[in-house]
Amino acid sequence: MQNKINRITQAILRTPSPENCQPWKIVVQGNKLEVFHLSEHAKLGMMPDYMSVVGLGMVAEGLTLACSEENLRVEITYFLKERSGETPWLVAELGESDVVADPLAKGIFLRHTDRRCYVGGRLDDSVFQEIRQEVNRLEGVNLYLSDKYSKEYLELLQNANQIVMKWSELRHDFNKWTRFTDKEIETTRDGMNWRSFLRGSENWIYYLRSRIWWLAIQLDWFPAWWMKLETFFFDDSGDLSPSNYDDGACIGCVTVKSDDVENLVSLGRLTLRIWLLLNLRGYGFQPLCTLASPIYAERIGQPYLPEQLAPLMNGGYEILQRMFSFPDDEVPFFYFRTGLSMGEYPKNTKSLRRSENVVLNDMTAKRSSPL
Ligand SMILES: Cc1cc2nc3c(=O)[nH]c(=O)nc-3n(C[C@H](O)[C@H](O)[C@H](O)COP(=O)(O)O)c2cc1C
Repeated sequence: MQNKINRITQAILRTPSPENCQPWKIVVQGNKLEVFHLSEHAKLGMMPDYMSVVGLGMVAEGLTLACSEENLRVEITYFLKERSGETPWLVAELGESDVVADPLAKGIFLRHTDRRCYVGGRLDDSVFQEIRQEVNRLEGVNLYLSDKYSKEYLELLQNANQIVMKWSELRHDFNKWTRFTDKEIETTRDGMNWRSFLRGSENWIYYLRSRIWWLAIQLDWFPAWWMKLETFFFDDSGDLSPSNYDDGACIGCVTVKSDDVENLVSLGRLTLRIWLLLNLRGYGFQPLCTLASPIYAERIGQPYLPEQLAPLMNGGYEILQRMFSFPDDEVPFFYFRTGLSMGEYPKNTKSLRRSENVVLNDMTAKRSSPL
């Protein structure tokens, strides 16, 4: 059993997290796993913790898939109503059973974020039929796909980047996760590998821009005119030409059908399944989530943007609705682009994981600080 649990915990740690901040600590007590959230670690400015709840859904799905591979059943309980770093967000009880391995489990160690250009793909490819079946399995969530990219949508993405750039606390928390040297990547084993920002090895401009950006961060040099340039030069979503997006099959938008926090967990579960399926079928996948939280918060009546930044998201819900055609009672949260991958994802580009975030039989584990 111990070997099985070791493999399962490593599979959980492979699940994605925003900025690869890896905000989870797993405490193993016999056949019981407790998943704690390292709240300080995952903090992104004053943003609420919705992204982490979605991440927990991914953890739950990764855990369930890994258990199926080990022929174990798993019973999961969530503790999200009054969540903090002090109590587990998820408790899972594992037990022997003859459950059959879910084929998606094969994708856990293969999955990655692919920010490179894609080489085509179409909405009528069979993988999108398979994805539809995944959506039908889950309550409370829905998926919309579009291969048309309206100008107003691209502008909205650009505005979302402006929020990150103009809100210094948020900018600081985002930037601290970018790893610009291989040494840094090896030492920290978290954050985002600078190579993962390159769209193609021939594309030296992306290499150059990552180095310039690195310098700006070292000097903490962010004058207003430079922030504007960021949108045009340093982030692909800032390009108003859809050429960046029509390289692939489509953009996806996952919605929840109510503001019940457990729907965000289901959204995480569904998104991970879609991501694994696409990667297993040779499709690349990149989340595009900078506009997720402000639009979700506004729609559920808990806006948090400072007064001077709120206008940047004005009409955001309606713009998304025109693009994806979801009904009024649904709220979008997760966005992604996907298309046929340009080839094998280079090993040295994969984001590393801190495998030591697992504690065995630690009855006293209580943490909210970084490991
Ligand atoms: C909830 C969530 C939101 C994310 N948002 C973005 C995003 O807006 N843009 C992006 O390029 N990657 C985004 N990512 C991808 C993470 O940066 C990525 O998963 C992490 O760096 C680990 O890399 P890997 O997916 O290759 O394992 C997001 C991931 C998650 C789980």
